[in-house]
Amino acid sequence: MKQPMDLRLPLRRIPYGVGLAFIVVTLILWQFRLPRSNPAPGHISKHQRWAETSGLIRDIYNATLGFEKIFVVGLPSRSDRRDGMVLQAALSDMQIEFIDGIQGKDVPDKAIPISSPDSKRLADGSIGSWRAHLNAAREIVQRNLSSGLILEDDTDWDIRIRDQLHDFALSAHALTQPLRGRPGVYADSTYPQPSEDSPESAPETDFYRLPATTPPTTSPYGDNWDVLWIGHCGMHFPFHHSKTVPKGRVIRLDDETVAPKKNLWTFNIPFTLKESYPEHTRAYHHAQEGVCTLGYALSQRGARKLLHEVGLKGVTDAYDILLRFFCEGEKGRAAGRQCLTTQPALFHHHRTAGRVNGMSDISNHGDNGEFREKAITDMVRWSVRLNVEALLEGRTDFVDQFPDE
Ligand SMILES: *[C@@H]1O[C@H](CO)[C@@H](O)[C@H](O)[C@H]1NC(C)=O
Ligand SMILES: *[C@@H]1O[C@H](CO)[C@@H](O)[C@H](O)[C@H]1NC(C)=O
Repeated sequence: MKQPMDLRLPLRRIPYGVGLAFIVVTLILWQFRLPRSNPAPGHISKHQRWAETSGLIRDIYNATLGFEKIFVVGLPSRSDRRDGMVLQAALSDMQIEFIDGIQGKDVPDKAIPISSPDSKRLADGSIGSWRAHLNAAREIVQRNLSSGLILEDDTDWDIRIRDQLHDFALSAHALTQPLRGRPGVYADSTYPQPSEDSPESAPETDFYRLPATTPPTTSPYGDNWDVLWIGHCGMHFPFHHSKTVPKGRVIRLDDETVAPKKNLWTFNIPFTLKESYPEHTRAYHHAQEGVCTLGYALSQRGARKLLHEVGLKGVTDAYDILLRFFCEGEKGRAAGRQCLTTQPALFHHHRTAGRVNGMSDISNHGDNGEFREKAITDMVRWSVRLNVEALLEGRTDFVDQFPDE
């Protein structure tokens, strides 16, 4: 009785064996197809392949970071800053173009739109800054560029900027692209604009488990944005009572490019990111009360609307406040703009060593003789500027400005 059993069983098991192997292989392939939770930081892109099916997102690794152009605004007289920017861009494999700013005193009253008969002219610094930024926006419109990244000339960024932007784009898709196979349906129920019966806050989305969305076709960052406000010195999460700002948040734990909490700061109090989330958390969401315009991208449609709403309407406040009105549909500006951001920001102030009054062309701090011994860049860990020597020599022993204890 034993003999026939031994012969029969292996024969009958072969189909099972093949079936089992097939299932195992399928499961292994499936694993690679889906984003995995908590992969090693910095390697996320390899695990988010489904988001890359359009191929467009790979353009973020190109010389203009997935925008059509990168513009740097500032006064031509600041040759020191231009030298610094050209070097940083070269070492980052980035193509930049300068847009000449102008001294506020050289802008005639007639060229400054006012909103009421008793409007007061802003200080020269604010006028100069407004004009420099509007010159950049106008360039995007005039040249019909699909998008442009605008940087101020004293900014710095992380050596890993492309990975950071890639991950920003994945989050932007989750916040603004329709769900895969469900046109007109979004992961965030308060998008594109909260309604009367919208919840006060939207549930948080885990960056490592983003919903499958329709891949964008026009920009690697998504098809429906006006401003990507990614260089700032303060941002709030969308306010619960806001009627114009969608409430969605994508939260990413363990971002190794985020400086320790002790090195984070903001102009926007309370600093919810620091107070309510663990160390090394990054958040992606819609912009609320942004401060400073160190770096932001405009889409073509965003640049056109900005020219209309901020170039040609009353210049009542500094440019960053006008951009806030634009994003939030306030002070006579239409609602419905889509302005996305991340905390901490990706572009930050670089403060060179030297005389401290060289810092700002906007406000005149006066020369009190103060001298900065050591250059720093706010909150950027692997600063390009502070690793110039390593980069020039092709070394990879980068200095982390803000290590954990
Ligand atoms: C980078 O990608 C963007 C988006 O696809 C594109 O508009 C731009 O021309 C590309 N830049 C370069 C230098 O190829
Ligand atoms: C601007 O670009 C868009 C998109 O590529 C195109 O459809 C449009 O015709 C262009 N407009 C001008 C004035 O070139």
